[in-house]
Amino acid sequence: TTDYGAMAGSRLVIITAGMSRKPGMSRDDLLAANANIVGPIAERIAKTAPEAVVIVVTNPLDVMVALTLLRSGFPRQRVMGMAGVLDSARLRAFIAERLSVPPSDVQAMVLGSHGDLMVPLISSITVKGEPVTQRLSASDVATLVQRTKDGGAEIVALLKQGSAFYAPATGIVEMAGAILQDRHAVLPVCASLDGEYGLRDVCIGVPAQLGAVGIERIVELPLSVDEHGALVDAAAQVRQGISALAALQANPR
Ligand code: LAC
Repeated sequence: TTDYGAMAGSRLVIITAGMSRKPGMSRDDLLAANANIVGPIAERIAKTAPEAVVIVVTNPLDVMVALTLLRSGFPRQRVMGMAGVLDSARLRAFIAERLSVPPSDVQAMVLGSHGDLMVPLISSITVKGEPVTQRLSASDVATLVQRTKDGGAEIVALLKQGSAFYAPATGIVEMAGAILQDRHAVLPVCASLDGEYGLRDVCIGVPAQLGAVGIERIVELPLSVDEHGALVDAAAQVRQGISALAALQANPR
């Protein structure tokens, strides 16, 4: 349907609307175009499904989550973005492929921004409990992390038209399941922070416990100094995107 009325009373709304990247474009190149699509949608959701939990998928992801939060007026528990599940799945898949083990044997979590400033928690990557650093050299791990950061662009370049869909869809389903089945599962999601990790007024990828209410709590993992620094850098970049968006909307092209 193209009728917003069909979502009346929904418990969960997933926003995937927007333009996808063309080869060579960064996710940030989509900022203005997708803000004009996502902003009005957020307002329609607030009117039509005022109790819904919202999962944002549109890029640039972290800024679109901030925009949806603002334009829906929803509490931060009910607005989140899907990126960390996807980025973590890619990293796990690449490590698994390199070691010829099943991806389910690899534990890895990617926080931060959905872009160049992803923050993979390298010291906690394990393969059936064994630290990945015992199985792969630091440079091998760095290569796989870089491929993860470039994973979206790699697929855009191969598809020529459109962007990844199978892995993002799987990520969305995992988050939707945690919410609709009230599973209290901890997944990396893009969330609005209010002091967690020393950050506030920014949306960024962090582990969060998801249930029927949306984000039940943000999980504060002990990060190394470098990991925390990388998270702060990612947050600064997202803030720049939020400011750029505010400037565009005050002064539309
Ligand atoms: C990706 C796009 C959807 O990472 O951002 O594939």
